[in-house]
Amino acid sequence: SPSGHQPTATRDTVKNSAFLKACRREPVPHTPVWFMRQAGRSLPEYLKVREGIGMLESCMRPELVTEITLQPVRRHRVDAAIYFSDIVVPLKAIGIDLDIKPGVGPVVEKPIRSRADLAQLRDLTPEDVSYVTEAIGLLTAELGETPLIGFAGAPFTLASYLVEGGPSRTYENAKAMMYGDPELWADLLDRLAGITSAFLKVQIEAGASAVQLFDSWAGALAPADYRRSVLPASAKVFRAVESYGVPRIHFGVGTGELLGLMGEAGADVVGVDWRVPLDEAARRVGPGKALQGNLDPTVLFAGTEAVEAKTREVLDAAAGLEGHVFNLGHGVMPSTDPDSLTRLVEYVHTRTAR
Ligand code: CP3
Repeated sequence: SPSGHQPTATRDTVKNSAFLKACRREPVPHTPVWFMRQAGRSLPEYLKVREGIGMLESCMRPELVTEITLQPVRRHRVDAAIYFSDIVVPLKAIGIDLDIKPGVGPVVEKPIRSRADLAQLRDLTPEDVSYVTEAIGLLTAELGETPLIGFAGAPFTLASYLVEGGPSRTYENAKAMMYGDPELWADLLDRLAGITSAFLKVQIEAGASAVQLFDSWAGALAPADYRRSVLPASAKVFRAVESYGVPRIHFGVGTGELLGLMGEAGADVVGVDWRVPLDEAARRVGPGKALQGNLDPTVLFAGTEAVEAKTREVLDAAAGLEGHVFNLGHGVMPSTDPDSLTRLVEYVHTRTAR
């Protein structure tokens, strides 16, 4: 059963946390807050424990993962932890030759460009990522009443790295496959949906109480292409974890025109970047879903007064929502002053206390 390492009382406290209540669109004592990339280079304690250890290597060490995941919870008092890992970890785990290069991102040795290249992919088994099960066991014991969010990369965003061979601004190779060889593209995304589903199941079964599917780069697509060539694979992932009953969050950057479709794919909570105000996002997503977002992460460089003014704008736009999880519109930038994040959590909690 999920949360196998926790006593029943703790499990119930987690279920009644502000974060999970907001995801379920139930009344909350205060608006819950967490930050994408809350663990990582903005924290000196992270830089210290990561010294001399590569990114992928660090994801495979359960004690280190536990420590890094807990760091922002201790420091900022956020309402949820996010499991420390990376979207390419399951791809590495099935034997794809890739690395995360500092300051660059994931780099794939042999990009997938043809049907023969699909042979690089196989299904993911729980044994491939036993360190994830172990780390989540340690983590849920330490987290107590704070919920843990598991996550994975969505098929399109994973495909963008696998087909391009690394980060891209245009996704020309991936989109060329999508437009030019739709059958190969559909097969690639379907296989990735299977891997992503298996990876999320491992995290939920080990004790994650919500999951976020990162389709960070889906905003590169027109709605018709997203619907035809990407949504079916993401929908398959959401269906695969539906029976666990944990909230499913769906996030991407620059997805203003896709918000309705990203909800339709099967999300319970739709993540919104800073480009669309939350009241307008709610109209686009429609009823029956909570929203997550959406302070521009660069606002944190503008000083406390600006942070508070822009935060009030986000909270005002969220006032009529069925459920709201406060977050940034994308990840914390590495040069962010961590104290500004701690103050922001406190500010949202105080402003929204009911
Ligand atoms: O705190 C958290 O949010 C959990 C940790 C997390 C990481 N990656 C750790 C990481 C999460 C949720 C991710 C997801 C991820 N990885 C996404 C989707 C989220 C998003 O930002 O849209 C994507 C696109 C990736 C791929 C990736 N991995 C990129 C683009 C980079 C940055 C490269 C760089 O150095 O700037 C990574 C590396 C990475 N993943 C780091 C961290 C903390 C930085 C590497 C390091 O600290 O050495």
